[in-house]
Formats: sequence, structure tokens, C-alpha cells
Amino acid sequence: MRKNLYLVLTLVFVLALGGVVMAQEEISLTVAGGAVGQEKELTIKAAEMYMERNPNVTVEVLDTPDLANDRLGLYLQFLEAESPKVDVYQIDVIWPGDLAEHFIDFYDYGAEDIADDHFKAIIENNTVDGRLVALPWFTDAGLLYYRTDLLEKYDRDVPETWDELEDTAQYIMEEERAAGNEDFYGYVWQGDAYEGLTCDALEWIYSNGGGQIVSPDQKITINNEKAIEIIDQAAGWVGTISPNGVTGMGEEDARAMFEAGNALFMRNWPYAYALAGQEGKPTAGNFDVSPLPAGDSGSSAATLGGWNLGVSKYSEHPEEAAKLAMFLAGEEVQKMRAVEGSFNPTIESLYEDEDVLEAVPFFGSLYDVFVNAVARPSTATAPQYNQVSELFFQATHSVLTGEDNARSAIEYLELDLMDLTDFETGEPMQP
Ligand code: GLC
Repeated sequence: MRKNLYLVLTLVFVLALGGVVMAQEEISLTVAGGAVGQEKELTIKAAEMYMERNPNVTVEVLDTPDLANDRLGLYLQFLEAESPKVDVYQIDVIWPGDLAEHFIDFYDYGAEDIADDHFKAIIENNTVDGRLVALPWFTDAGLLYYRTDLLEKYDRDVPETWDELEDTAQYIMEEERAAGNEDFYGYVWQGDAYEGLTCDALEWIYSNGGGQIVSPDQKITINNEKAIEIIDQAAGWVGTISPNGVTGMGEEDARAMFEAGNALFMRNWPYAYALAGQEGKPTAGNFDVSPLPAGDSGSSAATLGGWNLGVSKYSEHPEEAAKLAMFLAGEEVQKMRAVEGSFNPTIESLYEDEDVLEAVPFFGSLYDVFVNAVARPSTATAPQYNQVSELFFQATHSVLTGEDNARSAIEYLELDLMDLTDFETGEPMQP
């Protein structure tokens, strides 16, 4: 009897010791995340929450460039070298198809239990050949930000068409300048030659009935009158309602101008909402958001954006990294990011959460904009989406800067896309 007791006690002791030894194994993980707006500080905050609960894990947050193309360039340097330096990558919604080979399958690490909580379309977007290569983290859709105080002062409505936006922007810009604000502009957006311009231009084109550049059934549809017409129209904004410098602007440049009180309208993603509302800024209490204007199609279009978390196949701790990613993409962190940073959750139930709706009311009122956002042709053209987008934004940019007109730029673009993808041309599908 006594002998048995000794045996049991010894076993308990050995197991406890084993537990202590295991718990002490120090693991260091690196997350490569965005630093746009409050992204970095909120990722650090979530990493701290994780470390508190997992004292043997140290999480480092690596700063990455703001512009999506620059970030992709950095990621490719690590991934192509099969570097274990980064464990978890924050990846754009357009990248799963291009980058799938570098990431683990979350279904090997227990993701079947959580996949159903997220928007189905994003899970599908992130599933490549049956492998869930990234967990949805936050979703995005283009919105129109407008100054409520100025629309009221000049008795104008929120524009519902691009023509109305031009008209109101021109009028209020002239009035404000005459009243002494020389730096005031009507409309700021993303016109630099990068992925952000692809997003903005897809919104113009789709809202005008000009399709999605390449259709989901792999037809090149960009060379059509509706697309040509609206790109020329947008080129007309440069140097009139928008500054000449808009052709060098990304999200953060547009936000800076809007927040300084120097723009009536801004196209941006939801993250700018929490920031523009911060106390002390000229925009605080003086702005709101609405769907972007419509073109000839009669409907407005918002490009689908968003970011996901993938675990590198070259990580030395894939299991720990997957656990961390699942925590970051889980409900608690998504809620914190929604309330503090107006980052759209990908977990559907959070759109009914009272705290979330109180902090960001438009998550409720503009819910349809988020679920109906138009996708870039990243699935249809994978693994060549990045090149497709680059050809598209370069062509569009050449029209914005006046080097070319839309008809000729788009004719060349169509040929380049045919060369690159070997797809046929086709008619754009109407929204
Ligand atoms: C936002 C979107 C992302 C898009 C990028 C373009 O970060 O979430 O999907 O590619 O903007 O600038």
C-alpha cells in the first residue's frame, strides 16, 4: 500500500517537473504586421495580451511598409529565401492565391472549429486547393468620408453620383478658398501608382457598369466604353477638385489632408473613422461616412479589402505560431480592434455586438456595403494577380498624370493582360 503511494507520488512529481520544464521552454515568435493608422499599436496590444497568458512566449511585432506593394516586396524577400525570421504574416485579401505555397494549412492546427464564425466569402478567398492558408483578421471596403459641418453650411446633400460629387466639391472648395482657406480641396483619394489605385479605380469602373478588369470566369473585360469614360472623368479631378499631388497619394496622405481640415470629401477605408474622430482634430464631430457615389450603373461600388494572418511554412514553431494567429484573429482581439481602431471584424456575430456598434455605428448602418463589396480579380488571375494589378494601376496612373488618354492606355493594357494571362477578352458583367 505504502509502496504504491510512493509510486504515485513519484509519478506526480515527475509529471509536475515535466510540466514545469515544458512550460519554461522559451519561444520567440515574430509577427509581420501593418503600421497604417493605429494598426501597429493595436497589434502590439494584442501581442501583450497573448504574452500575459502565455508567459513562455515572446511576441515581436515587425514594422512593415504602408503601401501594399512595398509590403509584398518585403514579404517575398523572406518567403523566397525560406527564412524562419517571420512566423506570422499579415497578408492582404488579394494574396492567398499568389502566396499559398509559403503558408501552412490552418486545418492541420484545429481551424475547423473556428472557420464557421467568419464570413464565408473570406474563408473561401483564403482557401487554396482545400487548404486554409490564412485566417481572416479584418475586412475592408471603400467608403466616402464627408464633412457634415460644411455640407450643412452650404446646404448640400451627400453626393450619390460622381457628377454630384464633382459639383459639390467644386462649389464648396471655391467658397472655402474665397473665405481664406487656400489649402482647401474638394476630394482626396488614393492616386499613387500602387495597389490602392487599383482599389479606387475598380470602384469608379464597377459603379459605372464597366466590370471587374478580369471577370470571375477569366475573361479580360477592361476594354469597354464605361471603363474608358470614367477613368477619363477621374483624370479630370486631378488639379481641379483634387490636388495635383493626388497622383502620389496613398491612404495615409489622404487621411492627413482630411484630418487637417483641408478636404471636403475623402475616399478611404474604415480605419480612418476612429482616427478622424479623435478629440482635438478639426474633423472630430464634423464628419460622417456613406457609400461611395454611383456612376452610370446606378449602384455604388466598394472594393473589398482586408487583411489575414498566415503562418510561414518556414517557421521553426508552426504550432505555436498557429495558436498565436488564432488568438489574434479570435473574437476578443477582433472586438478590441473594432472598438478602438474601427477595423471591421470578420466574425459575423460582432456586427451585432453592442459595444462595437456604439463605437462604430456605421458597421451596422452600412453593413450591406461590407457584404456586397466587389472583389479584385485575384482569384481569377492567381498566381499572377500582382502583375495584373500592376499593369492596371500603371495604365490608370498614366491617364491621371496626363501622359496618355484612357482609350489608348486601356487598349495597351488589354494587350498586356492577354500576353500575361493568355485569357480571352469578354464583355463586362453588370452589377
Ligand atoms: C487596404 C485594404 C487592402 C488593399 C490596400 C490597398 O489596406 O485592406 O486590401 O490592398 O488597402 O492600398
